[in-house]
Amino acid sequence: MCGIFGYMGSKEAVPILIDGLKKLEYRGYDSAGVYVAGASTVKAVGKVAMLEAELLAMPVFGTAGIAHTRWATHGEPSVVNSHPHSDTQQKIWLVHNGIIENYQALKSELQKSGVVFVSQTDTEVLAQLIASLYQGDLKNAVQKALAKVRGTYGVAVMSQDNPRQIVVARMGSPIVLGVGNDEMFVSSDPSALLAHTKQVVYLDDGEMAVLEAGAYSVTSVSGEARTKTPEVLDFDAAVVQKNGYDHFMLKEINEAAEVVRNTIRGRIDVDHGLVKLGGLEDVARNLANIKRLTIVGCGSAYYAGQVGRLMIEEYAGLPVEIELGSEFRYRRNLGDVNNAVLAVTQSGETADTLASIMAAKERGQLTLGVVNAVGSTIARATDAGVYNHAGPEIAVASTKAFISQLTVFVLLTVWLGRQRGMSETEATEILQALDELPQVIETMLADTEAIKTVAKKYSTARDMMFIGRQLHAPIAYEGSLKLKEVSYLHAEAYAGGELKHGSIAMIGPDFPVLAIAPDDAVFEKMMSNIAEVKARKAPVILLTTQGVIVDEGVVDDIMVMPKVHPILQPIISTIPLQLFAYYVGVARGLDVDQPRNLAKSVTVE
Ligand code: M6R
Repeated sequence: MCGIFGYMGSKEAVPILIDGLKKLEYRGYDSAGVYVAGASTVKAVGKVAMLEAELLAMPVFGTAGIAHTRWATHGEPSVVNSHPHSDTQQKIWLVHNGIIENYQALKSELQKSGVVFVSQTDTEVLAQLIASLYQGDLKNAVQKALAKVRGTYGVAVMSQDNPRQIVVARMGSPIVLGVGNDEMFVSSDPSALLAHTKQVVYLDDGEMAVLEAGAYSVTSVSGEARTKTPEVLDFDAAVVQKNGYDHFMLKEINEAAEVVRNTIRGRIDVDHGLVKLGGLEDVARNLANIKRLTIVGCGSAYYAGQVGRLMIEEYAGLPVEIELGSEFRYRRNLGDVNNAVLAVTQSGETADTLASIMAAKERGQLTLGVVNAVGSTIARATDAGVYNHAGPEIAVASTKAFISQLTVFVLLTVWLGRQRGMSETEATEILQALDELPQVIETMLADTEAIKTVAKKYSTARDMMFIGRQLHAPIAYEGSLKLKEVSYLHAEAYAGGELKHGSIAMIGPDFPVLAIAPDDAVFEKMMSNIAEVKARKAPVILLTTQGVIVDEGVVDDIMVMPKVHPILQPIISTIPLQLFAYYVGVARGLDVDQPRNLAKSVTVE
């Protein structure tokens, strides 16, 4: 949460900083601010566009600076709480992503020595602390200050004394350096650097760097030299543009076919029923011996994990448990060393998922990741893993990453299954269907008018219930989460059979029910659940597969999807639900790409 961006070169800094902030805005949009060396600082409450307007009215010029877009933790969104923060003399300026946990103690100490604070933030404490230790060498002051700090940070710091230097440091919050021609950049996320350079250096926890135009040096926070050569980003700037779509969310939903293609590219051998996952090769033997797999994740990633669990248990015969990252990390009995723990995460930065992985590592368990963001903290922290290759996801609500996560779980199921006796025939059947899936998705996405019409019809509802069974129970939860996130409509989800154990009490004419009921083994059971809610006069939307015929009056609206291999059906059924949420959000006039109160990368616990 929070995005930081910095520039050091010979071009005007403000347009570059603003562009960087816009790319990072998904990380938080409560307020934004810039500090331009040799000029001044400008801040504004709200989105980056508000800051841009301030800067038009009050232009600042200079060729180096730092910038920040905030998701508020300590202190309400206000100008005074916005970053960049400084010390009282305004000598030291800094932007920060993370939380200084011992800020109260540090603040009291500084107050005793006469420092007066103006904001409620933990970050101002760090600025004042660095200033109190500063004796002309910024790197040295930052090192001394960080030695006193407990918590998480990605920081970029400047001093008025040396406008040609930015000091950055990382502990728990991402920091990526961009290496240009006689210019340097710093960002929370590599995708914000693409417009300028593809050469990047990822800092690891406990590392810091000093940036000067065209040069950087990396050390540990305690000063040991580190050699870090730039890596080359393998995606294009186009992936972070809307490319003609009204919203990133719609663009990303429409990328589903390409995402499946990219996720499976080079990984399947249909003829022999084999899956090749390069990232797991080194631990293949360990995985052949595990007795149980624990999947951890948060939000949509958790629901993808629930689907993954059902796939792996059903088709690969390996017992799997699924845990929320925010709960698993505090569990006393985390299982034995014969279990592996697998984190599912788009950003690779989610604090609770990361903490779960660290807890598993401490217990000596094998840790794995299904991660989209290349080079992210969780990708680096796990012993082995599978990259999604879905490309950067910009809309705060996860859509294409979820599709990719389900696709990885299909690959993983076959990979684990072949280790455990899945027949070549069964594997080939699944992989053949997976190979054909992108084409099926493209055909489905070519005509989505019916979904749009149904979404508009229900966009004025106040409440909504999603139901599904087996592989589609977690999809019901994901559909309801998507709707909540982008429409603020009250939505709940239940496994179809569970509704009658309490929640059906809420159901009535004003509580529409969206039932996910493809033609599968539990179709009849789902139809019974539909009858139960219909008897309570609930309007019912049925999401089912082509060829299913229901009698007049059984449901109110139908959304139809192609029928595919049962293990792949959740991938298909997710897409209409994502579109449904999108169109409801749009019909309600909301900012579907950046819903209120949310941030895409949840780096606080
Ligand atoms: O980056 P991660 O996949 O670890 O993020 C996990 C959740 O924060 C994320 O899925 C969140 O629920 C999204 N807003 C869902 O759309």
